Amino acid sequence: MRDGPPIRAFPLQLRAKNEKNQLQFVAVAHLTGIKLDDIFMVKSLFTKVKDREQVKITCDIKGKIALVTGANRGIGKAIAEAFLHHGAAGIYAAVRNPDSAAPLIERYGDKVVPVQLDLSEPETIAAASGTAGDVQVVVNNAAVFRASTPLDSDAIDALELGMKINVCGLIRMAQGFAPILKQNGGGAFVQLNSVASLKCSSNFATHCATKAAAYSITQALHELLGQEGIAVLSVHPGLIATDMSDGAALSGTPEPPQLVSEGIVAALKAGDYHLFPDKMARRIENAYHGFAVSVIEADLAEYKA
Ligand SMILES: NC(=O)c1ccc[n+]([C@@H]2O[C@H](COP(=O)([O-])OP(=O)(O)OC[C@H]3O[C@@H](n4cnc5c(N)ncnc54)[C@H](OP(=O)(O)O)[C@@H]3O)[C@@H](O)[C@H]2O)c1
Repeated sequence: MRDGPPIRAFPLQLRAKNEKNQLQFVAVAHLTGIKLDDIFMVKSLFTKVKDREQVKITCDIKGKIALVTGANRGIGKAIAEAFLHHGAAGIYAAVRNPDSAAPLIERYGDKVVPVQLDLSEPETIAAASGTAGDVQVVVNNAAVFRASTPLDSDAIDALELGMKINVCGLIRMAQGFAPILKQNGGGAFVQLNSVASLKCSSNFATHCATKAAAYSITQALHELLGQEGIAVLSVHPGLIATDMSDGAALSGTPEPPQLVSEGIVAALKAGDYHLFPDKMARRIENAYHGFAVSVIEADLAEYKA
């Protein structure tokens, strides 16, 4: 038995500085059953890593096997393509209708494997996690957008649909895939949130509420999955040219989905927590950055339950 306070009481959330170190730590955690945070914490006692220093979990997509929900169109398709262009070993295209992944398969052959997954049907998420047991990077990109103000007669219906798919779907994806990511050595979980997670537009307020809720869940996942050596990236696009933004009918010029997908590849490599990929998103980020650093990304250990 060791003397002193229990290891879990230390207010540290340390991370490996690079992927090689991270893999070594994950291997030790795997062999010993000791939690990754505890290994980092013990290591920090010897290497004099600064108290509360946040060391990032990085993830190079090269050679990785990824799963992308909604990979058949819009931002999801761009993510699948960017991952393959940057050397991913393979992509599970997790889509409602497997036939809709045909264009990706025509282009990339057996590097793309379609998997049937509907975020509103928990059994399909469970089945997909059974099929994709070798996945190392999971991108929960798919979502619904139903525009409603709080005063519209269909507001509750729109909110319930969005909560079911955009929020409960995220939770089920995390529950289904976190154990697999851990088993496969860490990797990353990427969640497509939005500027709507931070700023409500009254004409699609119910959608914004679901994206705010999804961001809140993402923050919990960042902490919980981080303890297992899994990177969590929260992506906040602004106005991107897809069917969804057509539906939102915003003024302004939408930017290409590739801005998001290339941004994700780079953010994973850098071990970033947040990504604001386009011009509109960066405008929000400029104002939000200080709050994110000192509150969202901070440990605030003194206020933890
Ligand atoms: N476009 C933007 O300006 C923008 C801005 C901020 C955030 N985002 C976020 O980025 C992500 C991708 O958006 P997008 O613009 O690419 O949307 P999109 O073009 O409308 O595509 C939505 C994708 O989600 C899938 N999907 C819908 N409901 C699903 C369900 N129940 N189960 C599984 N898949 C389902 C769709 O599949 P089907 O083809 O089968 O319908 C489609 O692949 C979303 O999370 C969105 O909120 C987008």
